[in-house]
Amino acid sequence: MYEHDVIVVGAGGAGLRAAIAAHEAGADVAMVTKLHPVRSHTGAAEGGINAALREGDDWELHAYDTMKGSDYLGDAPAIETLAKDAPKDTITLEHWGMPFSREEDGTVSQRPFGGLSFPRTTYAGAETGHHLLHVLYEQVVKRGIQVYDEWYVMNLAVSDEPDPNDRTCHGVVAYDVQSGAVEGFKANRGVILATGGPGQAFDHTTNAVSCTGDGHAIAYRAGVPLEDMEFVQFHPTTLPSTGVLISEGVRGEGGILYNNEGERFMFEHGYANNAGELASRDVVSRAELTEVNEGRGVEDEYVHLDMRHLGAERIVDRLENILHLAEDFEGVDGLVEPMPVKPGQHYEMGGIETDENGETCITGLYAAGECACVSVHGANRLGGNALPELVVFGKRAGYHAAGKDLGEAQIETGYREGVEEEDMELPIAPGETGLAETGDDAVADGGQLADTDGVLEGAVETERKRVEYLMERDEGIQHAEIRSKLQQAMTADVNVFRNEDGIKRALRVIRECREEYRDVYVADPSRTFNTDLQMTYETRNLIDVAETIALGALVRNEFRGAHWRQENQIRDDENWLKHTLISWNGGKPSIWYRPVILEGEDKTYEPKIRSY
Ligand code: FUM
Repeated sequence: MYEHDVIVVGAGGAGLRAAIAAHEAGADVAMVTKLHPVRSHTGAAEGGINAALREGDDWELHAYDTMKGSDYLGDAPAIETLAKDAPKDTITLEHWGMPFSREEDGTVSQRPFGGLSFPRTTYAGAETGHHLLHVLYEQVVKRGIQVYDEWYVMNLAVSDEPDPNDRTCHGVVAYDVQSGAVEGFKANRGVILATGGPGQAFDHTTNAVSCTGDGHAIAYRAGVPLEDMEFVQFHPTTLPSTGVLISEGVRGEGGILYNNEGERFMFEHGYANNAGELASRDVVSRAELTEVNEGRGVEDEYVHLDMRHLGAERIVDRLENILHLAEDFEGVDGLVEPMPVKPGQHYEMGGIETDENGETCITGLYAAGECACVSVHGANRLGGNALPELVVFGKRAGYHAAGKDLGEAQIETGYREGVEEEDMELPIAPGETGLAETGDDAVADGGQLADTDGVLEGAVETERKRVEYLMERDEGIQHAEIRSKLQQAMTADVNVFRNEDGIKRALRVIRECREEYRDVYVADPSRTFNTDLQMTYETRNLIDVAETIALGALVRNEFRGAHWRQENQIRDDENWLKHTLISWNGGKPSIWYRPVILEGEDKTYEPKIRSY
C-alpha cells in the first residue's frame, strides 16, 4: 500500500495545479494518473484563458458575462471567485514561464471570444492548453511531487454509512498498467479528483479517447451527487470527419461562418445580430445545425469557416496550429480555402457537486476542473473559461485538502431532507448497477469496515476480485461493442436538439448497454499493459455517466443554454431556475433539485433575456 497526505487523481491542468497548491501548503502530495501528465487532455485546449487583466476591464464584467453565458444557472459565489482570482492566477502562470502571445510593446495579448463584452482571452497561439500543461508539470517536477503515471484509478475507498454526507474517503484503488498490480493508495488528508470530462460518451467529440468520466462515475457510485449533467457543450467548430477542434480563436481573430449559399448566416439569418460568429457557443451550434437542417449546409453536413481574409502573416502568427489541424485531419489548406466545420461534443458543464473549496459532501473527497461542478458554467460555458477554472479551483482544492483555511463555503453540498425531489417515473431498470458480478455490490465499495485501513483494504480486495472475474471469463461481449452503441445513441438523441421521444430512446439503449455489460469479458489475456481491461472499466463509467446526462435532459423540460427541448422552447425561470442533482441511491439514480444562488457579494444577478 502507498500512503500520502493528499492524492490527486488525474494530471491535467486542474490536477497539476491542485498538487502544486497542496505541496505549497505543506502536504506530502502524490498524483495518480492513467496518462503521463503532458499527455493529458488539457493539452488539446487551444483558445485561451479569460482574465480581466487590462484597463477598461474588471472582474465584475467577467462575472456578469459568465453569469449571462450560463443562462443564469451558474452560482454567483463560484462565478465571482473565478472572475476575481483569474487575473492573479494567470499572472502566476506568466511568472512560471507560460509563453503567452504578446503585443509589439511586450504586453500579453488578449483576443475576443464568444459571449465576452471585452477582449479578455489571454492565449499562447492556438495551443494554450499545451503550454499550460508543460508549465504546470515543470512546477510539479521542480517541487519533487511524486507522480504515479500509468496507474488507472479504479475506485475510491469510501466508508459506507447510510447517509453519504456521513461518509469519509480514505484513498483510492489503482491498477498499475505496467505490471497489472492492483494496489491501495491511502490518503491521510484528502483525495482530489481531477479526471476531466466524459466526452467519450458521444461519438463525435473533441475529447481524447481518455476522457471517459472516470472521476464522475466513481464519485457518483460512492454517493456524491452529479449536478446539471444535462448541460453538454457542443462546440460549433469541429472538423466533420474526426471531431478535432478548430479553436474559437479563429472567430476571435475575425474568421467568418458561411452556409452553402455563401451567406454569412449568423447575421443574415438573424441568429445573433450583434455578436455574429462571436455569440456564445450554444447559439452558434444551433444556428449551424439549423442551416444544415434547412438545406443550406455543405454536403448536407457542415458549414464553412473562412479565415483567408486575415492574411497569411496573421494566421501563421496567431493560429498556426489551426493550419496544421485542418491540413492533417481534413486535407484542407486554411490559407487558400475555407475549412469545413460542424458542432461536436466538447465539454460537460455539469459534474461532481462541490463547493467553492472543491469539497464534496463526502469528507476528504474533492473534485476540480471539468469533472467538477462548482457551478461556474451553469447551462453554457463561455469559451476561455475552462482554463481559468482549472487553475483557480484546482488551487483552492489543493490548499483546502492540505488543511489551509479558505473560509467557509457558501455553496451547500449533499442531499438534505426537505429538498425538492423529482417524482417523474424514470425509465430505468431499478437495481441494475452496471457492475460485472463480483458477489460484492456494496454501494460505496468500501465494505462495512470501521478503521481506515479496513476500508481501503476492502476496496482493494473488491477490485482484485473484479479483475479476476473479468479475466477468467472467456466469452461474452467486448467493451468496444457496448461503448460504440452507447456513443451512437447519445449522439443521435442527446445532442444539440433534443426531444422526449429521442431521450427516452437513448435511455433504452443505455439500459441495454447496462444489461450487456453484465456479460462483458476481457479478450486480452495479458497481465501487463492490458488496455482492454482498463477500457472495460472505463466503459462501465461511461454507462453510468451517460445515464445521468440523459436523465437530466429528460426531466428538464425547458430550453436553457445548451439544453434545448422541442416540447418547451423557452427558458422557464418559474419552474427551472434550479440545479438538477442525481444521486446513486440504493442501486439506482434519484433526482432532486437545489436553487441557483444568484446573490453575489454586492449584488443579485437578475435573470434577463439572453441575446447576443
Ligand atoms: O475554441 C477553443 O479554443 C476552445 C476553448 C475553450 O473551450 O475554452
